[in-house]
Amino acid sequence: MKTITFIGNGNMALSIAQGLKDSYKIEVVGRSMDKINAFEEKLDVKIDKALMDNYNMADKTVMLCVKPANVEEIATILTGKAKVIYSVLAGTSLAKLKENLNPHAVVRTMPNLAASIQKSMTTLTGDIEYKEEAQKLLGAIGETRWLSSEKEIDIATALAGSGPAYLALIAESLADGAVKQGLKRDDAMAIMRGLFGGFGELIQNIHPALLKDGVMSPGGTTAAGYGALEDGNVRASCMNAIDKAYTKATQL
Ligand SMILES: NC(=O)c1ccc[n+]([C@@H]2O[C@H](COP(=O)([O-])OP(=O)(O)OC[C@H]3O[C@@H](n4cnc5c(N)ncnc54)[C@H](OP(=O)(O)O)[C@@H]3O)[C@@H](O)[C@H]2O)c1
Repeated sequence: MKTITFIGNGNMALSIAQGLKDSYKIEVVGRSMDKINAFEEKLDVKIDKALMDNYNMADKTVMLCVKPANVEEIATILTGKAKVIYSVLAGTSLAKLKENLNPHAVVRTMPNLAASIQKSMTTLTGDIEYKEEAQKLLGAIGETRWLSSEKEIDIATALAGSGPAYLALIAESLADGAVKQGLKRDDAMAIMRGLFGGFGELIQNIHPALLKDGVMSPGGTTAAGYGALEDGNVRASCMNAIDKAYTKATQL
C-alpha cells in the first residue's frame, strides 16, 4: 500500500485522510504527538506518526496541510527532497513552495469548504506529470479540475473557494424575504434548503439560462421576482464579486 505523508494535522488534513484511508497508508507529521494521536483516533485507522523537527521528506508523497503563513518556518525544520508535494495552502504560489521546500515536483490544490463532507470542488495546477495522481488523491474529497496556470487557480478560488459565502448570502436573503412576507422562520429555512438541494442537482446538467426560462412564464410570478433581481444589479454584483476576490487573491 502506498504511503501518503500529511504534514499538518488540522481539519483539511483530516478531511483528505478520511477519503484516502482505505486505499493508502496514512502517515501524519505534526508539531504535537497528542494532536497526532487525536487525529488517529478521529480517523479510526492505524497511522504512521512523526514529529516535524528534522523530519526527512526524501522521496515521500506529501500532502502539505499547514497554514500559508507557516511555509518559511517549517522549511527550517523539515529536511530532504520530497518526491512530490501536494499543497492545499490558499494563495501560496508554486514558486514559493519550490523555493522553500525544494521538492522534485509540486502541485498546488485549492479545495473548498465542502471538503469536510467529501463534496469539495477542488482545482489543481502544477507539474503536469502528477496531474493524474493529483486528481486521484484530491478526488478523495470531491470533484477536481486541473487548470493550466496559477492565474486560473486564483480565478477559480474566487469562484469555488469563496462561492459558498456568496451562495450563503443568497440563501439567507431569500429566506429573509419569505419571512418578511409572513412565512415562519423554520418553514422558510426548510424550504430554502430544499430549493438548494434540488437546484444543486438540476444545475449539473442544465444550462442556468434554460433553467430560468423553464420556470419563467410570461407576465408571471417568477418574471416579477426576476425583474427585481435585475433592478438590484445582482448579475453585475456577482461578476464584480469574482473580480474583487480574484484581485485580492493575487495580492495575498
Ligand atoms: N478549511 C478549508 O475549507 C480550506 C479550503 C481551502 C484551503 N485550505 C487550506 O488548508 C490549510 C489548512 O487549513 P485547515 O482548515 O486544516 O487549518 P487547521 O485545522 O487550523 O490546521 C492547521 C495545521 O497547521 C499546523 N500549524 C499551525 N501553525 C504551525 C506552525 N507554525 N508550524 C507548523 N505547523 C503549524 C497546525 O498544527 P497544530 O495542530 O499543532 O496547531 C495544524 O496541523 C490552509 O493552508 C488553508 O489555506 C483550507
